[in-house]
Amino acid sequence: MAFENILTTTENGISTITINRPKQLNALNKVTIEELSNAIQSADQDPAVKVIVLTGSGEKAFVAGADIKEFANFSVEEGKKLAAEGQEKLFNLIENAGTPCIAAVNGFALGGGLELAMSCHIRVMSITAKVGLPEVSLGVIPGYGGTQRLAQLVGKGKANEMVFTAGMIGAEEAFQWGLANHVVAPEELLSTCEKIAGKIMKNSSVAISYAIEAINAGYKDGVNGYDAEIDAFGKCFGTEDFKEGTTAFVEKRKPEFPGK
Ligand code: CAA
Repeated sequence: MAFENILTTTENGISTITINRPKQLNALNKVTIEELSNAIQSADQDPAVKVIVLTGSGEKAFVAGADIKEFANFSVEEGKKLAAEGQEKLFNLIENAGTPCIAAVNGFALGGGLELAMSCHIRVMSITAKVGLPEVSLGVIPGYGGTQRLAQLVGKGKANEMVFTAGMIGAEEAFQWGLANHVVAPEELLSTCEKIAGKIMKNSSVAISYAIEAINAGYKDGVNGYDAEIDAFGKCFGTEDFKEGTTAFVEKRKPEFPGK
């Protein structure tokens, strides 16, 4: 697939997707959202891909937000459509993907950029990363799920403060808040993601996809997370991975999961 604003590579079970508009600090315009959506869907459907890593091109930014220049003249209806389509096409897609997604946050992750990182299952930040939701400084609010996911990750009080002040925090503070899983030197960012991916890949990809489903269920309106867990737990018993995992345990050997 040829893309204008993103780069993709797949190696050793890891699909790395790089947002590549460094001159615009990788801001998310319509085309970029569309391309990311396509790339995530095809990686998620590829049985050879066990982990997706999402990062930004250049040293300065992961993503500096939604493209402000693109929406500056939007009407109420257009604004609503921008948020609805973006959430559906990309942010919810990532959160609900069956393949674990790791955000490798290499610099500024602001507005839609932090929202993108928060929609990923795991966040690894370079010590140089700066993150925040500055939307109210533009007269708008986070529209790509930020008001919901930030509160889920750091609690309502801290989320309120970050949104109301439009302030930025560094990677170490993000780690203390629970927003970053790990903080590393810039040169160790991708290798740390690869190490985490390596640990993930030793396990059953089918069981992991059910785990994602069950964990997410607890955050969905009208869905009982415990019931979803029971359902997903039961489904595992019908998989080849389960047979292999339990047989390997009994035979005292390492499992070789077929991923089915
Ligand atoms: N949209 C469009 N262009 C952007 C952008 C964005 N979000 N962020 C940066 N750029 C562009 C700049 O306009 C500039 O382009 P030109 O050279 O063509 O003028 C280029 O990227 C470099 O940016 P700066 O010159 O501003 O770089 P800096 O080092 O001085 O500042 C920064 C860096 C603090 C990140 C600053 O660029 C900035 O504040 N960016 C905007 C951050 C922001 O407000 N994000 C939220 C967007 S709204 C949103 O995301 C809504 C939503 O939830 C759906």
